[in-house]
Amino acid sequence: MKLSKKSQLCTLSPMRKFTPYAMAAEAAGKKIYKLNIGQPDIETPPEFFEAVRGFSQKVLAYANSQGTEQMLQTVVDYYKRIGVEYDKKDILITTGGSEALQILFLSILDEGSEVIIPEPFYSNYNTFIRAAGGVIRPMPTIAEEDYNYAKPKALEALINENTRAIAIINPHNPTGNVLTEAELRSIADVAKKHDLYLICDEVYREFVYDADRSPCAGSLRDMDDNVVVIDSVSKRFSACGARIGMLISRNKALMAEALKFCQGRLCTTTLEQVGASALYSVGPEYFDKVREEYRRRRDICYRKLTAIPGVVCAKPMGAFYVMAKLPIDDADEFMKFMLTEFEDHGETVMCAPAAGFYATPGRGRNEIRIAYVLKEKDLERALDLLAMGIEAYNKRK
Ligand SMILES: Cc1ncc(COP(=O)(O)O)c(C=O)c1O
Repeated sequence: MKLSKKSQLCTLSPMRKFTPYAMAAEAAGKKIYKLNIGQPDIETPPEFFEAVRGFSQKVLAYANSQGTEQMLQTVVDYYKRIGVEYDKKDILITTGGSEALQILFLSILDEGSEVIIPEPFYSNYNTFIRAAGGVIRPMPTIAEEDYNYAKPKALEALINENTRAIAIINPHNPTGNVLTEAELRSIADVAKKHDLYLICDEVYREFVYDADRSPCAGSLRDMDDNVVVIDSVSKRFSACGARIGMLISRNKALMAEALKFCQGRLCTTTLEQVGASALYSVGPEYFDKVREEYRRRRDICYRKLTAIPGVVCAKPMGAFYVMAKLPIDDADEFMKFMLTEFEDHGETVMCAPAAGFYATPGRGRNEIRIAYVLKEKDLERALDLLAMGIEAYNKRK
């Protein structure tokens, strides 16, 4: 029987593809420090669980396709607090930011339509865009320039008659780059000039370690038809398992199309919307505390990585990832080595090989992405293991 060409164009996630090796290593008694996936260890605020426990309806019914009234109002209120006016009709509650992206690309792409994305980028965009028949047009960025992609001329050079959108992730996964308001404006101007969607994935909005960065694209009021914001409770509240995200745009025609896909999948989870709505009642002190925690971890990662001979990395300004070019030949092979052969006192470390974060063949081969989602002491140990592993791997070669 045949499989689809679309699925064959997709690949396994670089964050998860070494999981079978990790499971085998764990079964054999090895301890693995997992820096491969953006699963924070920060506790989910108890408000989530309290709200779910307080759910008193006798039937766990389907919710509205657009989202529950309560959740939609919660999102409107949240944006109001950060100075951005949205209406409930501008919002669709989805099964994570992931489904928001899938629905968006199904709504705006035809076979062969192109999406410009600065690379490296969150690798699942490959799957989302290819599944919708689209093609990624990568805009290369490099560590030596802090992965800066606010380069209107370079972006403009990639536009052709098939281009439908420019997609940016701000703060950025995997590089940690964060835009200033002027940088966002310079990219927005390109999208506006060429009548393109400007997709702004802002799921890491709260995690910014330098002032005056991370403006919300929803505030670009001359771009109501262009801007699409992707949002999620996963990282913001360390609630990845809730699977609640949002597709947000003031473009009425787009939202009408997207609603068809929302109705097709009936709705997202009812109970999790109850819990997710309660999450937004946490005060700013919650974010201050979490941000400080990540800032300390970021500093540890950067200090430890730059102390390893031959490593190149840019200091992340936001999110909770760092990309590192390692003095090795092949990060996939290196990761397999770390999980199958290497150990120090029964311990090893797992990161995400970075080739999957690039669309340009050959790029990212000797790079890894680290998610700094472990406590400081564990992070220190994990990075020591990485340094030892690099040495052992190169010796073995
Ligand atoms: C940039 C970016 N966008 C979207 C997502 C999807 O997150 P979720 O589906 O959990 O909301 C992720 C998850 O890691 C991400 O890093």
